[in-house]
Amino acid sequence: MRHLIDITDLTVGEIDELISVSERIIDDRQSFSDICKGKKIATLFFEPSTRTRLSFEAAMLELGGSVLGFASADSSSASKGESVSDTVRTVGCYADIIAMRHPKEGAPMAASKYSPVPIINAGDGGHNHPTQTLADLLTIQREKKRLDSFTIGFCGDLMFGRTVHSLINALSRYENIKFIFISPEELRLPAYIKEDTLNKKGIPFTEVERLERVIPMLDILYMTRVQRERFFNEADYVRLKDSYILEPQKLLSAKKDLSILHPLPRVNEISHNIDDDPRACYFKQVLNGKYIRMALILKLLGLEG
Ligand code: NCD
Repeated sequence: MRHLIDITDLTVGEIDELISVSERIIDDRQSFSDICKGKKIATLFFEPSTRTRLSFEAAMLELGGSVLGFASADSSSASKGESVSDTVRTVGCYADIIAMRHPKEGAPMAASKYSPVPIINAGDGGHNHPTQTLADLLTIQREKKRLDSFTIGFCGDLMFGRTVHSLINALSRYENIKFIFISPEELRLPAYIKEDTLNKKGIPFTEVERLERVIPMLDILYMTRVQRERFFNEADYVRLKDSYILEPQKLLSAKKDLSILHPLPRVNEISHNIDDDPRACYFKQVLNGKYIRMALILKLLGLEG
């Protein structure tokens, strides 16, 4: 039985396969429409979500399966003190696969030790978010027609942004990628990622504070929200929340074929009048997220490949 806890649980070859299954689904949705008939996904969300939870549910419904689950910890027995391991043992009696989001780093990993069915990490605290990474990779592949040889800038909350951590981890396995990290001093990428993922593999990176300085070099700009829920005090959040606001003016010096990604939700960091710029890819990313989750569900249920 396979789980997806960390993006490196999948080989680069398996990611390529998921991307090509997603592209087949996009081209011919009809032939996948009842492949999961009789199968159920449970979405166990102990933390808020719009896209991740609903895209897992939409993915399973589009494959002909069905869904059950909860959208907040207080509507589950977690609020009575039940452990994550007991919760998944229970839900494993009702569902064939589980997508779990939890505020505690490592909770989906712990759950996978007890679960009778595959567990997908749908975001664990400020740690990892491998299925957002799959959506990001599919988007990059579709926009750039490659997953190597580009310069990517990550901008915003690189300390707590779990989507950033997982995407860096994934991209560190492809050739010739230049990483530029743009953040305030206090929200820099955690040292363990620089050490274990980049330095150990000899992958160079640059850290800067000003987006304007580096924007002309970028092929991809990955914007992120300052993660309010991970701050210890509100005053720090308020001071840092508007560190970056991407406005049309700032794009004047950017490449014509820049791709702007954002896992969403956005707060203020991308001005709404960029949404119609052909370089804005964040709503395409949302749709790609559904397709690649369809491919992932098929893979983990052993129904495709
Ligand atoms: C992200 C998350 O939950 O980490 N959202 C998502 O899943 N698309 C990003 C965020 O909340 O800022």
